[in-house]
Amino acid sequence: MTAPLLEMRDISKRFPGVLALDGVSFDLHAGEIHALVGENGAGKSTLMNILGGVYPSGTYDGRIRVNGEIRQFEGVRAAENAGIAVVHQELSLVPEFSIAENIYLGREPRRFGVIQSEDLYSRAQRVLDELRLKLGPHIQVGTLGIGQQHLVEIAKALARNARILVLDEPTAALTDTEAEVLFGILRRLRENGAGIVYISHKLEEVLALSDRITVLRDGRTVSTDATTALDTPRLISRMVGREVADIFPPTRRKPEGVVFQAQGVTVEDPNVPGKLLVDDVSFEVRRGEVLGISGLVGAGRSDLMMAVFGAHPGRISGRFFAAGSPVSIDCPGDAIAAGIGFATEDRKRFGLFLDQTIVDNLTLAALKRLSGPMVTRPDAETAAGERSMKELRIKARSVFTVAGTLSGGNQQKVVLAKWLLTSPKVLLLDEPTRGIDVGAKQEIYLQIDRLAAKGLAIVLVSSELSEVLGLSDRILVLHEGRITGELRREDATAERVMACATGQAVA
Ligand SMILES: Nc1ncnc2c1ncn2[C@@H]1O[C@H](COP(=O)(O)OP(=O)(O)OP(=O)(O)O)[C@@H](O)[C@H]1O
Ligand SMILES: [Mg+2]
Repeated sequence: MTAPLLEMRDISKRFPGVLALDGVSFDLHAGEIHALVGENGAGKSTLMNILGGVYPSGTYDGRIRVNGEIRQFEGVRAAENAGIAVVHQELSLVPEFSIAENIYLGREPRRFGVIQSEDLYSRAQRVLDELRLKLGPHIQVGTLGIGQQHLVEIAKALARNARILVLDEPTAALTDTEAEVLFGILRRLRENGAGIVYISHKLEEVLALSDRITVLRDGRTVSTDATTALDTPRLISRMVGREVADIFPPTRRKPEGVVFQAQGVTVEDPNVPGKLLVDDVSFEVRRGEVLGISGLVGAGRSDLMMAVFGAHPGRISGRFFAAGSPVSIDCPGDAIAAGIGFATEDRKRFGLFLDQTIVDNLTLAALKRLSGPMVTRPDAETAAGERSMKELRIKARSVFTVAGTLSGGNQQKVVLAKWLLTSPKVLLLDEPTRGIDVGAKQEIYLQIDRLAAKGLAIVLVSSELSEVLGLSDRILVLHEGRITGELRREDATAERVMACATGQAVA
């Protein structure tokens, strides 16, 4: 038998105080999509960072073979030269550069040392076409939405024609259509003999796409099986080590009394004068209510949330009422003062200071409330931080762990915990479970229900229809910046919501 394309044997990796990988073995054949799944913090990204040369040889134990030959990578470039391309979970693009410059960063086509600009852009155009991305290669990356930025990141890896392609949660920020295009490409690459490692928390996706699935738990390999031998419940129980019943909590909430009202909210597109991202949207939310906001990506859901939070100064109009009295919200400070909290979808840009500790992140928004005008590091902060860590089951050594060293899902939990500490009356959640594993999702759903039951009003934006349907008392559907539907829990079905979201029906 020929050697596998890739073989990782007995890989162990220790961070200060954390054994992230404990003797993991993993292999990959040519012409195979091998999925890697596991809870937040299981070690998936760490394993692939080792393969990709992010952690150079000498900083971990174990062996890597490519085509049967032992390889040691001194850095990212060395791994790339060995035919390995990794699309990391967190974006690594240069916002000031164009799409083409990002795709070919460090590998620009040159003649006599001079970058061949025309060549650069025409090559980039071809890669974009292949991904069916309707974006010009000249566009500056920083102006793109997060989903599109992820696609550029994927384009960058594809342009390398790697034999081994690793995708770490590529679809977390993609629309279903974008994801389908990606799957088509991956299947084609597989036919051409590439080996693909696919990391995702979307188990349906993993089951539909992969040939084999390896489950990691707490830094160890639980199992590797042919995908045909697995189904969702089996996969989940292997990931979390227990059976997970209904993921959405039964709810006995009784929403009453409007706590917040938005009237005629309009948001202008910063790039296209006269175009409206949100067009005359009004809504109200009650004490103890979860109001779901559904719609396709680009329908204006996030812009609506940003507007309510005062994050679109100068481009919005509309009126707001807290507990019946008008409030002016011109900046996030006004919103927080009016009792509004906002966990954004783009945690890296707006949610979290990666180089600061968990407790510092947690108390940034809550600072005033916890420590009064004289800000020191009182025990109260530490204690509050420890409580939130426990409540949301944030997996970290202590509240003094640096946020950037947490796994993606655990970072998201810190963002949630931070806003909960501000004791808001209205909590806006934009994609709260993006990149979060099933077990942790269930805990967050439980928290959402618990908070609402205690009287918090929650506005939930999510691309996962099942999440909106499973949690909301009422659902507003947006299509091209306008409300096309309002459905009560009893009447809401996936079909109805989708019909409104695609503009085919008004409910
Ligand atoms: N740079 C680092 N410093 C310290 N600890 C780290 C570092 N990177 C990862 N860890 C720890 O190693 C463990 C594995 O993390 P990893 O990011 O590989 O998880 P993951 O399976 O990718 O999770 P997720 O699904 O949330 O992305 C976690 O306990 C994490 O906190
Ligand atoms: Mg990860």
